Amino acid sequence: MTQINSKRILLGVTGGIAAYKAAELTRLLVKAGHEVQVVMTEAATHFVGPATFQALSGKPVLTRLWDGDAGNGMAHIEVSRASDIILISPASANFIAKLAHGLADDLLSTLCLARACPLAVAPAMNKQMWDNPATQRNLAQLRLDGVTLFEPASGAQACGEVGMGRMQEAAALLIELEALFQPKCLAGQRVMVTAGPTYEAIDPVRGITNLSSGKMGYALARAAWEAGADVVLITGPTALALPPHARAIQVSSAEEMQAAVMREIEPISIFISVAAVADYRVAQTAEQKLKKTETAPTLLLTPNPDILAQVAARPKPPFCVGFAAETENIAAHAQTKRQHKNIPLIVANRAQNALGQDESELILIDFNASKLLPRAQKLVLARQVIAHISEML
Ligand code: C5P
Repeated sequence: MTQINSKRILLGVTGGIAAYKAAELTRLLVKAGHEVQVVMTEAATHFVGPATFQALSGKPVLTRLWDGDAGNGMAHIEVSRASDIILISPASANFIAKLAHGLADDLLSTLCLARACPLAVAPAMNKQMWDNPATQRNLAQLRLDGVTLFEPASGAQACGEVGMGRMQEAAALLIELEALFQPKCLAGQRVMVTAGPTYEAIDPVRGITNLSSGKMGYALARAAWEAGADVVLITGPTALALPPHARAIQVSSAEEMQAAVMREIEPISIFISVAAVADYRVAQTAEQKLKKTETAPTLLLTPNPDILAQVAARPKPPFCVGFAAETENIAAHAQTKRQHKNIPLIVANRAQNALGQDESELILIDFNASKLLPRAQKLVLARQVIAHISEML
């Protein structure tokens, strides 16, 4: 199975209560297949013990410049050399000040100064410290120096105040970090993705839906954002958390999805239709719950609009990508659908092996060729689909 590109990440933890979030981040990074070397400042060790990070990363934690952990006594050079990126999370106001001024008075600040790799910083501090002009000056300097800032959010803080300075959650930091390594092949593009199933009501408590989980659509929205696009996600009902990096619009029925798509379509340059839109809806939705009767009722169905075909038929259509979940003759059926809907690219998969799962196997079919993307995590496949779209463009 194709794995997510593994990176060597030096995770610097500085002194702040958000250090506990760095423990969760370590776990998520390792789970995503990355190699994590944790380096802590002395202050950080008062919040979370090095043993926690050692257990989560599977590597001894480095804390002191003079430990002699490195063979030649130049730990700061060796550790930086072995990293694809340094992420400071949490980055205290004090550590940000040190970075801005090029200080090197402990192991972590020294290896930041000695690095040859990118540096990303996730600030975490009390709102007064964040608002202080000195901190803002230091942050501006880091931006000028090409350091990536994972901006904090506003919210309740450990000190009891509410305001800016709360570090992003570990899951969001993981997404931001991995995005740094993706080629920006869709920079400047406006992408719309539809995802998930639709729900066609029979009465107020019953409806017709399907097994689509939304995972492939959400992965494509994330991959398009990683590639530098501005993304709007139109999603049917799913159990997934809405992605922080796309503007999400939640809908229920196919008609609601159609209305949302048409309302937002004008500036869109790439339309990726992953949603498993119900082909039919109930002709007359009952206003009250239907009562059980002696004889089984007959549901009269009526066709839903074909949203993708409608978008593709616009006078100046965006680049349209369809999805086809098939159970047999996958490539042949998908090719027929592509021609029928008049779209440049269709992505086919075997419904039984994809619906609801974390992995899939895809076939990309355009007007003269088809390409197999072997079984992999949906995010890995989504990145390959985005790369293919950018090549076709
Ligand atoms: O027509 P069929 O459902 O087989 O085609 C699947 C493709 O068409 C998917 O990309 C799906 O999102 C899109 N579709 C649509 N509106 C429908 C049915 C399917 O946009 N009513």
